Amino acid sequence: MAKISKIEAKERIGFLRRELERHNHNYYVLNSPTISDFEFDLLMGELQGLEKMFPDLVSADSPTMHVGSDIVAGFEQVAHRYPMLSLGNSYSIGEMEEFDARIAKAVSSPYSFSCELKFDGTAICLTYRGGSLVRALTRGDGAKGDDVTRNVVNIPSIPKHLKGSGYPGEFEIRGEIYMPFEAFERNSAERIENGDEPFANPRNAASGSLKLQNPEEMKSRGLDCVLYHILGENLPFRSHAEAIAAAASWGLPVSEYSRKAGSIGEAVQYIEYWDSKRHDLPFATDGIVIKVDELDLQRRLGMTAKSPRWATAYKFRPEQALTQLISIDYQVGRTGAITPVANLDPVPLSGTTVKRASLHNRDQMDLLDIHIGDYVYVEKGGEIIPKITGVELSRRPDDAGPAVFPTVCPDCGTPLVRDESQAKHYCPGISTCPTQIKGRLIHFTTRKAMDIHAGEATVEALYEKGFLKDLPDFYSLTKEQLMTLDGWQDKSCDNLLESIRQSLEVPFGRVLYALGIRHIGQANASMLASHFGNIDNLMSASRDELLQIDEIGDVMADSLIDYFRSEKGREIVSALKAVGLKMSTEGTEKVRISDRLEGSTIVISGNFSISREEMKALVEAHGGRNSGSVSGKTTYLLAGEKAGGEKLRKAEKLGVRVITEDDFYKIVEE
Ligand code: IVH
Repeated sequence: MAKISKIEAKERIGFLRRELERHNHNYYVLNSPTISDFEFDLLMGELQGLEKMFPDLVSADSPTMHVGSDIVAGFEQVAHRYPMLSLGNSYSIGEMEEFDARIAKAVSSPYSFSCELKFDGTAICLTYRGGSLVRALTRGDGAKGDDVTRNVVNIPSIPKHLKGSGYPGEFEIRGEIYMPFEAFERNSAERIENGDEPFANPRNAASGSLKLQNPEEMKSRGLDCVLYHILGENLPFRSHAEAIAAAASWGLPVSEYSRKAGSIGEAVQYIEYWDSKRHDLPFATDGIVIKVDELDLQRRLGMTAKSPRWATAYKFRPEQALTQLISIDYQVGRTGAITPVANLDPVPLSGTTVKRASLHNRDQMDLLDIHIGDYVYVEKGGEIIPKITGVELSRRPDDAGPAVFPTVCPDCGTPLVRDESQAKHYCPGISTCPTQIKGRLIHFTTRKAMDIHAGEATVEALYEKGFLKDLPDFYSLTKEQLMTLDGWQDKSCDNLLESIRQSLEVPFGRVLYALGIRHIGQANASMLASHFGNIDNLMSASRDELLQIDEIGDVMADSLIDYFRSEKGREIVSALKAVGLKMSTEGTEKVRISDRLEGSTIVISGNFSISREEMKALVEAHGGRNSGSVSGKTTYLLAGEKAGGEKLRKAEKLGVRVITEDDFYKIVEE
C-alpha cells in the first residue's frame, strides 16, 4: 500500500466505513447491491490494511469488526445462542497457504481440512428440540436474527421432524437457504411479465423471498437449503465430517460435494477443480470454504470478533471474457425507455455462450468511451444478462469509431428526451411508436392488469392487421376479425371475446395499472385508486397533491402528470371510460367486520402479504383510522417487509407500539 499520512488515512477510513455500511445495507436489507462482491471485498481489504497500519484509528463500530445486518421490520428478533459469524476470505491461493501456515503454527498435532462449496444464498440457523424443528433465525447482525420459522417450514428440503435416532435433545444446525438457477429463472421471467423489477441475482432472490410476509407466496419461490455447521452442548462428534454425516442420517440436507483434504495442497486442488467446474452446478457458488476438520482443534483455535480462526473462504473472481463488440442495438421498451444492447462476437463465459450484453444507458457508454470494434470485457455477476465492464484499449482497431447514442427513436424517429433522475433516454412518442403501442397492448392484457386471454403473438398479429391500434380497440374487436388470424376457430375467438367482456368487471386499481403509466406498478396503482376514488380526481390532482402521498416521489408524480396532461393519455382514458371500464372505486362496498380498532389510529409501512390498500381497508373494516405519519396520537405502527426506517425510529422515540402483520391479525381476531 502506498505511503499515506495519518490525517489522510483518517479521512479515507471514514469514507471507506461509510461506503461499506451503505453497501452492507443495500446488500442485506434492501437486497439490491449496487457493487459486486469483488468490489466490496476490495474496499474492505483497503480498510483492513489502513486499520492495521494505524491501529489507534481502529474502532469497535468499524465494518471490519462486525457482520452486515439483514434485520428488517416485520419479524420478531431473537438472540442467537452462539454468535453467528462470517468467514475471512481471500481471492488468492497464497493466502490459503498462509491460513494453513497459521494453523500449523498454532497446533502441534496433525490436522485435515473439510473442503466445501460456498453456497451463495442467505445464512440460516435452525434449532431442533426433541427431533422437531422449533425455530429458524436469519443471521441478522450476528448477535440476534429475524425469526423466519413460518417461512422456513415451507421449504420442502427442511425436515420438520428428524428421522432415525441418536440426535441430541437440542442442537442448532446452520446453513444456507438458496434459490436454484431453475427457480431463479422461472421467478425472474414471472417478475418481468408482471412488470416488477427482476432480482439482481439468485442470492438476492433467496434472501428477499425468505423475508416475504406471505408464506404462500414464499412457498411458490422454490427455495432450497443446505446445512453445514452443527452447534450444541456436549455433542458427541470428533470431527466436522462425522457431525455432517450424522446430520444426513437424520434426514437433514447436507452437501454432496464436500471432500476431506489431508493437506492444503489437496484443498487447493479442490479449489482449482471447482473454479473450472462450478458452472455445471444447478445453483450459485461464490467460492470454497476450508474448515479444520478436527473439532478439538477448532475449539483450540477459537474465533476473532468476526470469524472463526479454523475456517476461511476462497472466493472465485467473477469470470470475465474478452471479445469484440460488433454493433449496438438500441432497444425500445414498453414505456419508451431506450436500452443499448451490445452484439458481441460470441464468446464462452461461465458455461454459456454470450452474444449480447447490456450497456445500461448512455452515461455508461460515455464512461467506457466505447467504440464499435473495441475488445470489451464481459462479466456475469449471477445476473441473467451479462454486462460490459471495461474496454481493452490496447486492442482498439485503427478504424474503430465511437459508438453514437441515437438522438431519435430507432423505431419511430421521434427525438429522444432524457430523464435526468433515471439517467435514461426515452422516446416520447407514446402515440406513434409501434414498439410502445405493442408493449402497451400486451401489458394491458396481462393477468394482473385486465387478464385478457390473448398471447403476445396474437396481440402483435392484431396490431399488424390494423385491428388493434390502441387500448380501447380491444372492446371493438369482432369475431370476423379474429377469424382472420392463422389457425383461429370458433372456440378460440369466443374465449378471447369472453375474456374481454369479463375485463369490464376489473376493479379501478387494476384498470389504472393496465394503462401502463411509466413507473406506476401494481401496488401504487391500487393505492392511487383508493386514495382518489375516481379517475377525474386523480387526473386533476396537482403535482403537490400527488407528492403529499407517502408512496409517491418526484419520478412517479412527474410521470402521472405527464400521462394525464398528454393528449394521448386523455384520449385513451376517455375512450376506455366510454366502453364501460371501471374508472372509480364506487360500488366497492366498505364492509364493517368488527369494532376492535374503534378509536385506534394506525400507520402502516412496508409490504404485507396483501396489498397496502387491502391492509388499509382491513384497518377501516375493523373500525380503525389510517394515518400517513407517526405522531403521539398513533396507536400502532403496523410494520411490514421493508418498513420505513424513519417511521420505525419515530415510533421508538415516541413509545408507539410497533406491530407485525401477525400481531395485527391477533389483535383484530381476539
Ligand atoms: S461455515 C463459523 N460453510 O458464507 C463459520 N459457511 O461469507 C460458519 N457459507 O456466513 C460458516 N457456504 O453464510 C460455511 N459451506 C459453507 C458455506 C458458508 C456458504 C456462507 C455463510 C457464511 C458466509 C461467509
